Amino acid sequence: MQSWNDSLKIGVPHIDEQHKALFAAMEALYAACSAGKGRAEVIKTIDFLEDYTVKHFTEEQEIQKKSGYPKCVEHKKLHDDFIVQVKAIKKDIADNGATILSVSKLNSLLSGWLINHIKYVDTEIAQYVNK
Ligand SMILES: [Fe+2]
Repeated sequence: MQSWNDSLKIGVPHIDEQHKALFAAMEALYAACSAGKGRAEVIKTIDFLEDYTVKHFTEEQEIQKKSGYPKCVEHKKLHDDFIVQVKAIKKDIADNGATILSVSKLNSLLSGWLINHIKYVDTEIAQYVNK
């Protein structure tokens, strides 16, 4: 698993701090999985993500708008899609309990979507904010 490192910084400190917090949640989930406690941690992680991503995405979108970043609308769709996926996993857990499958779905979502989004989509914002 990729852990947080400076290459993930996009160069906008407020956003970088929030990405770091998202990574910390992902790392805690991985650590719990390694300790055989993934199913307990997944509920905590999903509750955190549901609140924190809404706050983070809202603030990131505000920063984008103020900076004149031209892809605000497309970018918001990506954020909304992530929230839909988090909510679907949450519903799955509510319906079926925290299963190995729900833990692995959340792990894949975080290690795939989150890392790619930061590296390849969010990095574009910095050139507008820091111009
Ligand atoms: Fe983003």
